Amino acid sequence: MEEAKKTMLSGIKPSGDLTLGSYLGAIKNWAARAEEYDCYYFMADLHAITVRQNPVDLRRRTLEQLAQYIACGLDPEKNTLFIQSHVHQHAELGWVLNCYAMFGELSRMTQFKDKSAKNADNINGGLFTYPCLMAADILLYQPDYVPVGDDQRQHVELCHAIARRFNGVYGDVFKLPEPYIPKVGARIMSLSDPTSKMSKSEEENGGTVLLMDPPETIARLFKRAVTDSETFVHYDPARKPGVSNLMTIYSAVTGKSYDEIEAEFAGQGYGVFKPAVGEAVIETLRPIREEASRLMKDKAYLEGVYRAGAEKASHIAEKTLRKVYKKVGFVAR
Ligand code: TYM
Repeated sequence: MEEAKKTMLSGIKPSGDLTLGSYLGAIKNWAARAEEYDCYYFMADLHAITVRQNPVDLRRRTLEQLAQYIACGLDPEKNTLFIQSHVHQHAELGWVLNCYAMFGELSRMTQFKDKSAKNADNINGGLFTYPCLMAADILLYQPDYVPVGDDQRQHVELCHAIARRFNGVYGDVFKLPEPYIPKVGARIMSLSDPTSKMSKSEEENGGTVLLMDPPETIARLFKRAVTDSETFVHYDPARKPGVSNLMTIYSAVTGKSYDEIEAEFAGQGYGVFKPAVGEAVIETLRPIREEASRLMKDKAYLEGVYRAGAEKASHIAEKTLRKVYKKVGFVAR
């Protein structure tokens, strides 16, 4: 008998345009897996509203994100691509899991602490219980792996803890998922401040490269990237965070090791190194940008993809939700 395929699932919030960080930390590792795994990827719009969004921008970005997923190599015939809010089971299981997550656990989440510091005037309940919804996103599909960047590790671990607690009471309802974090690229840092993560919200500072940035912009951002006062290319994240980050990016897009990169740029200053990294990124992103722009013009195609995706996702999600409702004691509809 043929062995059942393993399952992978991940999502990204359309709270900003996709960045080189999310590409290298997450999406790049999704595209290669479609043959081996049953794959579910979604636009996490429910998560996006934990921070105030402009509705017109949120709608536009959600569709752009879908076009970009496909342009990054996620073939909709082989991957289930959907919009989170189209599959109502996420919000429903999210509520149930709220009741199995502890105040103390949620209080310890670094993302909650960071975001509430940055949005002091809007520390809403959704921001606090966000990991319960994320746990629901994951557990509905019983995935084996959740491919994410390093900053989501803590949330996947909490999902594990919630699933274990639930299973402890009701028997084996949820499969315990493992985070799948790449060796190179799990934490891409800002080009303007290499001690902080490259993020969607910090694009104004010149530290963030967007997937859709034109080549001139990318070239400029890398030329201006912050390095150090030395002149040699060497990997040492503690002492040389800027150069090490650029090496990570170069390694992730070219597949070269840190030793190979040091050898390639030996005796050459940052004036040669920085534009070379920029060029490599430009060439990696060029086909993605071109294909995503083309797809964005075909709204009917995108609609077909997200509708079919939601239908398939909903079917799988409903099976898990029904089981959960039965276990906790809800009367069947
Ligand atoms: P989000 O939208 O902040 O980020 C999306 C993905 O990109 C990764 N990432 C990075 N990786 C490396 N370097 C960076 N600078 C960088 N910035 C972002 C993130 O680790 C993530 O994998 N809560 C999630 C979205 C989500 C989700 C889920 C993920 C909702 N439900 C269920 C997995 C499973 C988030 O906010 O990611």
